[in-house]
Amino acid sequence: MRRAYRARRFLHGLAESVEERMRKLIEIENVTHAYRTVAGPLPVLDNLNLSIPQGKFCAVVGPSGCGKSTLTRLIAGLMFPDSGEVRLHGERVRSPRKTVGMAFQNPVLLEWRTILQNVILPLEIVAPTMAKAQKEARARELLAMVGLEDFEDKRPSELSGGMRQRASLCRSLVHKPDILILDEPFGALDAFTREDLWQLMHKLRAEEPFTALLITHDLRESVYLADQVVVLSGRPATTQFVLDIDMPGPRPIDMLYSTQSVDWLAQLRDQIEIAQGRGAKTEGAI
Ligand SMILES: Nc1ncnc2c1ncn2[C@@H]1O[C@H](COP(=O)(O)OP(=O)(O)OP(=O)(O)O)[C@@H](O)[C@H]1O
Ligand SMILES: [Mg+2]
Repeated sequence: MRRAYRARRFLHGLAESVEERMRKLIEIENVTHAYRTVAGPLPVLDNLNLSIPQGKFCAVVGPSGCGKSTLTRLIAGLMFPDSGEVRLHGERVRSPRKTVGMAFQNPVLLEWRTILQNVILPLEIVAPTMAKAQKEARARELLAMVGLEDFEDKRPSELSGGMRQRASLCRSLVHKPDILILDEPFGALDAFTREDLWQLMHKLRAEEPFTALLITHDLRESVYLADQVVVLSGRPATTQFVLDIDMPGPRPIDMLYSTQSVDWLAQLRDQIEIAQGRGAKTEGAI
């Protein structure tokens, strides 16, 4: 009887810990990494910690060259840290992950494929047995969501920069990844197109839930899109400051002009100055 009770408690504990681990979809624990260069090791990440719960949107900001893109490669399993652990769904990352979608500053669409064929590409790799009609239907659904339904037969060069980036976002979401990694995807766009795409991100998130890590240099972008903004220090990067943006659901663009947002932006600006080696350390910094 007593043994059965203990077994039940044990199983309950196990279920709880799995649930707890699922909640923290992305975990970066004490990650340290250096590149081996001809001039010797180049330390890039230093004891970095970050935890992103399922369904949350985390923005990472920090000085140029501090190690942000390196961090995305470690999460995607394209590289492995010298020490520390990267875990997805509680499991240590030991190989590239199919459940990750990525979009970059340069959309890198293939010119010899139409927009529809470009969007389908990840499905050809991740779901090779899926029927062609089903793959096309899934890609069309996303293209319609981002307003590109009339451009699916065009080549990438026939689209504007903003349209190419929309197509690239569709490609990163087509296989329903549970993690979306965005490395400055809006960096090369003009201010109006960028704001359009920010709003589109909220729409996509409402219709296709995912957990996101966004690398950006734009503090307004981080405040408008993220649930949590993490400021990294200068290289070798460590977690310097974490700001929670407590505002669930899609946000109106004019939230950026609220007193609260102005205050958040000022805090982030201060932290970036500290990361760049200027300014004084403030309370709240880690
Ligand atoms: N494959 C590599 N081999 C050697 N050094 C590298 C390699 N990739 C990046 N680095 C160096 O590591 C540092 C961090 O690079 P990373 O691209 O992660 O920075 P970043 O924060 O993304 O920069 P940016 O904001 O300019 O995009 C830089 O000094 C860069 O020169
Ligand atoms: Mg980068």
